[in-house]
Amino acid sequence: MRRPIVIGNWKMNGSLESSRQLVLAIGEKAVDDCGADIGVCVPFVFIPEVSSLLDGSRVLVGSQNVADRPAGAYTGEVSAQMLKEFGCTLAIVGHSERRALYGESNELVAERFRQAVGEGLVPVLCVGETLDQRQQGKTFDIINAQLDAVLDTSGTEALDGVIVAYEPVWAIGSGMTATDEQAQEVHQYIRNRVAGRNQTIARALRIVYGGSVKPDNAARLFSMPDIDGGLIGGASLEADSFLSICCSV
Ligand code: 13P
Repeated sequence: MRRPIVIGNWKMNGSLESSRQLVLAIGEKAVDDCGADIGVCVPFVFIPEVSSLLDGSRVLVGSQNVADRPAGAYTGEVSAQMLKEFGCTLAIVGHSERRALYGESNELVAERFRQAVGEGLVPVLCVGETLDQRQQGKTFDIINAQLDAVLDTSGTEALDGVIVAYEPVWAIGSGMTATDEQAQEVHQYIRNRVAGRNQTIARALRIVYGGSVKPDNAARLFSMPDIDGGLIGGASLEADSFLSICCSV
């Protein structure tokens, strides 16, 4: 059985003080194990504070990106080893905002993924199509290219224990959620594609959905057979709505 996981992606939001308040509230209220693992992926600069406030709680801490190299002259990047040193266990890679706004290619994302796995971080690999691509019937081609870049760079075994997030770009921050069936169809497709290379890894792979997940639609999405939790943007910025989603599994 796959244990569901719900991860908050705070994106570039909050101040030091509001981050403190938010994680204290999440840490305090997340004592009940409602059947899901919980994580928060916070801006780099808040990681030390968030990690120390969540020390001893069951809430995992993650980053929103990770460098594609181990160390060296790479201005602006933060390595997997540095993230581990400050208590991160998760690292989002390939978020659509990184791909679309900062030009991150499938190959670059695959290198970031490789670095995360190499250091023992759990990458949360984001994949997903734009509205245009969906309307042109290219959803699966896009998913294939995004997934295969990682599989070819790191090998299928590298997917053991990682998390894949299906985030249709058109559903992110738009209030336009994929229907349960639309999401399930792509999740199943991802699992089958991995199963084509290794069935055991595919069966254990946690595939979470992201894109306008809210307290009122989470339970339905999470009840689908191949949806193993969520990656939550806007609704993760408020403790009650985030925890209500966490406990909708
Ligand atoms: P929203 O939940 O705000 O749509 O964001 C989803 C997302 O991008 C999570 O990574």
